[in-house]
Amino acid sequence: MDFSIAVIKGDGIGPEIVDQAVKALDAVGAAYGHSFAYERVLAGGEAIDECGEALPKRTVDVCKAADAVLLGAVGGWKWDSLPGGERPETALLGLRKELGLFANLRPAILFEELADACPLRPELTAGGLDLIVVRELTGGIYFGERGLRKTEDMGEAAYDVEIYSEGEVRRIGKVAFDMAGKRGGRLTSVDKANVLESSRLWRRVMTELAEGYPDVELSHLYVDNAAMQLVKNPRQFDVIVTGNMFGDILSDEASMITGSLGMLPSASLSASGAGMYEPSHGSVPKLAGLDRANPMATILSAAMMLRHSFGLAEEAAAVENAVKALLAEGYRTPDLFVEGKRLIGTSETGDIVAAHIT
Ligand code: IPM
Ligand code: MG
Repeated sequence: MDFSIAVIKGDGIGPEIVDQAVKALDAVGAAYGHSFAYERVLAGGEAIDECGEALPKRTVDVCKAADAVLLGAVGGWKWDSLPGGERPETALLGLRKELGLFANLRPAILFEELADACPLRPELTAGGLDLIVVRELTGGIYFGERGLRKTEDMGEAAYDVEIYSEGEVRRIGKVAFDMAGKRGGRLTSVDKANVLESSRLWRRVMTELAEGYPDVELSHLYVDNAAMQLVKNPRQFDVIVTGNMFGDILSDEASMITGSLGMLPSASLSASGAGMYEPSHGSVPKLAGLDRANPMATILSAAMMLRHSFGLAEEAAAVENAVKALLAEGYRTPDLFVEGKRLIGTSETGDIVAAHIT
């Protein structure tokens, strides 16, 4: 089959990690007889430098027309002094909004081979870990009203509004309940309902939804407790559903349990089937161009693309198994390296993964 992929390499380590995911996709194409046509478009800092804006219209148009979007990362020191509304990150938020990508899936899987890279005591993760964070991605405090105002005696003040509608909570809730139904049947909704009105609405809607899913066991946790439980007893979790900002924070925490933030892929999906795939980590400017970045989160994001956007489950599994094979052979990128393993760089990681896809 033929597929078109809009490719945004972005900033920092973005270009080098995306190149490795493309190697894996090309290996899949050769092995299974598919063809992937890549269209390169700019977003973030690279777009600011070349086009004067973080999210050029052409980028949005190409991404909308493509079968899926592959993205590296955006942002870096170079653009840190720009005003909030012009920063590279606005490209990411703009794309999520323009494409309607309200459901962000972030699976945190501790591969057996990486048990030695997990910072938790072995007995807490014995038998592996497999949880997924379902993060609402186009609402909440990321998109609420924000601004500055003067106070009478405390100087300038800044505000960002956390706001969720019933409809927004219901549609992300459905994604999470469906997911839990297909997995272990356990869903944890995370909020701060002891303080926030928006969280009380979130909790009410999730509780109402639960009536339609008798096979899914719903529980609620306050976000502070959830953060604590994730390191105390991560095996209690199957599917976690939460808002935009809590999901941002908890998914970084969950990823570390899998050994490194460099292992956490993500898929951002819309109601109409549009999908954008990117690692959950950022652009890590200090590693840019050094061939030291771990491209596995991006490669695993490409696997999610094969599964969720193209319906190619077998091919997706082939990519995931290739990553596992690389780890089983003892290869480690610098973020995962421990004594006795074989240190490899970014590009070699892509080559080894591609070689395993046959
Ligand atoms: C993520 C990132 C982004 C976010 C940043 C770069 C805007 O941290 O995808 O988790 O906060 O959503
Ligand atoms: Mg984040």
